[in-house]
Amino acid sequence: MSPQKPTILVTGGAGYIGSHAVLALVQAGYQVVILDNLVYGHQDLVEQVLQVELIKGDIDDRSLLDHLFQTHNIEAVMHFCAYAYVGESVTNPAKYYRNNVVSTLTLLEAMLSASIKKFVFSSTCATYGVPQFIPLTEEHPQNPINPYGATKLMVERILSDFDVAYGLKSVCFRYFNAAGADPNGLLGEDHNPETHLIPLVLQTALGKRESISVFGTDYPTPDGTCIRDYIHVCDLADAHILGLEYLLQNGNSEVFNLGNGNGFSVKEVISAAEEITGINIPIQECDRRPGDPPFLIGSSEKARKILNWQPQYPGIQDIVTHAWNWHQKRHK
Ligand SMILES: NC(=O)c1ccc[n+]([C@@H]2O[C@H](COP(=O)([O-])OP(=O)(O)OC[C@H]3O[C@@H](n4cnc5c(N)ncnc54)[C@H](O)[C@@H]3O)[C@@H](O)[C@H]2O)c1
Repeated sequence: MSPQKPTILVTGGAGYIGSHAVLALVQAGYQVVILDNLVYGHQDLVEQVLQVELIKGDIDDRSLLDHLFQTHNIEAVMHFCAYAYVGESVTNPAKYYRNNVVSTLTLLEAMLSASIKKFVFSSTCATYGVPQFIPLTEEHPQNPINPYGATKLMVERILSDFDVAYGLKSVCFRYFNAAGADPNGLLGEDHNPETHLIPLVLQTALGKRESISVFGTDYPTPDGTCIRDYIHVCDLADAHILGLEYLLQNGNSEVFNLGNGNGFSVKEVISAAEEITGINIPIQECDRRPGDPPFLIGSSEKARKILNWQPQYPGIQDIVTHAWNWHQKRHK
């Protein structure tokens, strides 16, 4: 019999990306405990689909964390929880610095007290700011243009300093646009409010919205709309398993982009959705939004080389098809 795999704490495991990572962890044979305050997470999905222990609480609660680490034999932490609305981070930065930075510091300090020194962190391509070259590599300068991106960069810095001072080893994944859903329709994206393009397009197809707003049609791109890098959420989840195993095998702290390497324009995404759903999706052309660069495409060569990560679903067709299956089921 093979030895039992370690127990992993997944913070934010009731959310979109975290829940897919929990499913991947369970399928890979890990024991999982979720800590989520359910501000945005979905208890029903944890109970009905993931069926792992859910601790309802906040990562800012030090006594809860200390108790959790004393009562569970946690080997490593995957940290998904954060607030992630860029616009809100501009109007209410205090909320973002408190939750994304201060609370993360509480979590890291509790981990160190419990001698837990392996950490997988959800960072973002928003730490790069305005692209100076495409595709963005991990060496691209980091100059975030909104507080959300700044909070993630601060945590990256904290992690780098904590490695030097305390030996805490981390893998930081800078995601591009997470999209898609579990191919079996068990899990998917259900943010409220929703700000991501693909779910908004599919909600329009379902008649939940009158039209989809397209911000800017005069960008220097082939069809005039912004081009973004969409990465399937299950490919993100797989990368997290590889990142975790890299740390469990005593790998050094590393930072990896996780993107598709292929960009798709807003209009290409809408056309793909029309083809897959068979529904005409009304669009409303709007002015550009400040701070939206024309292209945002990442290079994930480093994750492919070092982690041997091989995305299974690089095409927009799979991403939209899986998301459509999920949305029809979730929002019928
Ligand atoms: N969705 C994307 O495209 C994307 C891109 C780049 C980075 N990210 C990052 O990935 C992570 C996951 O994103 P998501 O889209 O799954 O978001 P999500 O909101 O669906 O999931 C976050 C989860 O964390 C929980 N949470 C938040 N603050 C908490 C706290 N203080 N204590 C306990 N639980 C808390 C929420 O209830 C939620 O379940 C975030 O850190 C986000 O910044 C997401």
